[in-house]
Amino acid sequence: MDTIQDIQEQAFKELEAASDADAVRALSVRYLGRKGIVTQLLRSVSTRPPDERASFGKRANALKNRLNEAFETALKRLEVSLEGREDHVDVTLPGRTPPVGALHPITQVMDEICDIFSKMGFDVVEGPEVESDYYNFEALNIPKDHPARDMQDTFYVSDAVVLRTHTSPVQIRTMEHKEPPVRVIVPGKVFRCDSDITHTPMFHQVEGLLVDDGVSFGDLKGTLTAFVHQIFDEKTALRFRPSFFPFTEPSAEVDIVCVMCRGKGCRVCSHTGWLEILGSGMVHPALFEKVGYDPDRYTGFAFGMGVERIAMLKYGIDDIRKFFENNARFLMQF
Ligand code: PHE
Repeated sequence: MDTIQDIQEQAFKELEAASDADAVRALSVRYLGRKGIVTQLLRSVSTRPPDERASFGKRANALKNRLNEAFETALKRLEVSLEGREDHVDVTLPGRTPPVGALHPITQVMDEICDIFSKMGFDVVEGPEVESDYYNFEALNIPKDHPARDMQDTFYVSDAVVLRTHTSPVQIRTMEHKEPPVRVIVPGKVFRCDSDITHTPMFHQVEGLLVDDGVSFGDLKGTLTAFVHQIFDEKTALRFRPSFFPFTEPSAEVDIVCVMCRGKGCRVCSHTGWLEILGSGMVHPALFEKVGYDPDRYTGFAFGMGVERIAMLKYGIDDIRKFFENNARFLMQF
C-alpha cells in the first residue's frame, strides 16, 4: 500500500467536503500542523530503509507543498466569496428602494386649487354626493322642465334623489346654516351620464361662493383672474364670456387663451384660440330668498370649475379617461 498516495487522496477528499474557511483551517492543522499527518510522515523518513529514504522524502515533501497550496487556495476562495453562506449580506449591492405611493394627479390639482383660494380667505367645505332633487335643482332655481333634469344627463337614485350633477347644491347647504359673510370653496365628485374622450360619468368640480355686503361683478373678475394667474401662469390671458345658468344673473363663462397654440387657433381650441375652464356669475336673488338672506341687502358671486379639465390643460393630456384607467406608468409622471 502506498501511504503517501493514500494520504493525498484522503486529504483532497476532505478538502472538497470542507464548506467554509474554518473547516479548511482545521484540515490544514490536521495534515500540516506540528503533529499533523504529513509532518509525521516527513519525520518518519529516517526510519525508512536507506535506499528508499531519498525518494520517500522527496515525495512526502511534494505532498506537503501540494496540500499547503491547495489549502491556501481554498481559504482564499472561501474568504473572498460570501456566496453560499446563509448569513451572507453583500453590503456593496445597491439598496432596494421600496415603492412609494403618491397622490393622484386629480387630487394634486384639486389641492392646488383649494390652496390658492384658502390663501384668499375661502373656507373648504364639502357636501353629499347623493343629493336630493331639492338641493341639486329646485333650490338652485332650475325649473322642473330644465334640460339639466333630463334622465339623459342625471343619474336618478329615485324620483327625489340623484347623484349630484354639480357641486352647486353645497352653495345652498352652506347659506342655509350660516349668515353672511360667506366665503367657501367646495371640492368634490359629481356625476353625469356621459362618456367620451372629454367626459367621464364621474368627474371633479371645485365650487366657489362669496356673499357679503356690496360684492360686485368686479370682485368676481378680480378673484378669478388672480386664480388663473396662479394655477396656470401670470401671462395666461382670460376673458369673461356672457353665458346662462339658472342660479346666477348675470352669468359668465371664463375662457383662457389656448395653452397649445397661445391663441393662434388649433384643433384643441377648435380654432377659436380660447378654452373654456369654468362657469360663474352673480348669485341669483331667488337663491337668497330660498335660504332666507335679504336679497335687497346682499350680493355675491359663485363659480364652478371642472378639475379634470384644468389638469388636462395644465399637463397637456388629450383624453380624460387616462385619469381613471389606473395605468401606473401614466400616473407616476405627476
Ligand atoms: N354648476 C355649474 C356647472 O356645473 C357651474 C357654475 C357654478 C356656474 C357656479 C355658475 C356658478 O356647469
